[in-house]
Amino acid sequence: MLGIRDVTHRYRDGTTITLPNWQAQDGEHWALLGPSGSGKTTLLHILGGLLRPQRGQVFIGERRLDQLGERALDQFRGQHIGVVFQTLHLVDALTVENNLRLARYFAGLSQDRNQILEVLDRLGVAEVARHHPHRLSQGQAQRVALARAIINEPAVILADEPTSALDDKTCQQVLELLTAQALACHATLVIATHDARVRGVLEHALELEPAE
Ligand SMILES: Nc1ncnc2c1ncn2[C@@H]1O[C@H](COP(=O)(O)OP(=O)(O)O)[C@@H](O)[C@H]1O
Ligand SMILES: [Mg+2]
Repeated sequence: MLGIRDVTHRYRDGTTITLPNWQAQDGEHWALLGPSGSGKTTLLHILGGLLRPQRGQVFIGERRLDQLGERALDQFRGQHIGVVFQTLHLVDALTVENNLRLARYFAGLSQDRNQILEVLDRLGVAEVARHHPHRLSQGQAQRVALARAIINEPAVILADEPTSALDDKTCQQVLELLTAQALACHATLVIATHDARVRGVLEHALELEPAE
């Protein structure tokens, strides 16, 4: 189970986001919809333990993310949550392979080169394992970011606007990859997007209200 209850987040500048109560069952695929500014990224970051809400409860399985301490939260996130950020956040100083290694390292998991190459291969980007991110095409970078999100076989995969910058064909491919990878890990998947092409592709949807 993944969910939030009574969650309100207030940014430093006073902007306050109140989110609806929501929960997903294990393995479900959700689209997180709503116009720009409605709080999709905020909710995704709260679910990913990257942002602590001022108020409310955040559940993943039996855990309450809002009650974990910093270190426990970092480790929990590394082991159980895979995030594909809107601006991918790949580390340019490292090769693709080492970007994935770093994700294993942060989660305190063993480093297995074959496993890393296998995941890159599954996503069709094994040939760029030794490249640095700045040399990748946008489609390749998207796949590498997805590989990094799933390298630890997370229970939850969160993706922020993964298709907005892509043409129709690549958009379709990225959606297929995300859902296929979520199925392969039996992970719960949440894709935040204002991209109309994603609407209706996933089995469930949560629509956030426009900001006041
Ligand atoms: N770091 C921040 N500091 C202050 N306000 C923020 C910050 N991030 C987002 N917001 C505000 O919170 C609201 C929701 O933003 P966001 O979660 O990014 O929505 P979405 O992803 O749906 O576009 C917006 O009003 C936005 O301006
Ligand atoms: Mg956003």
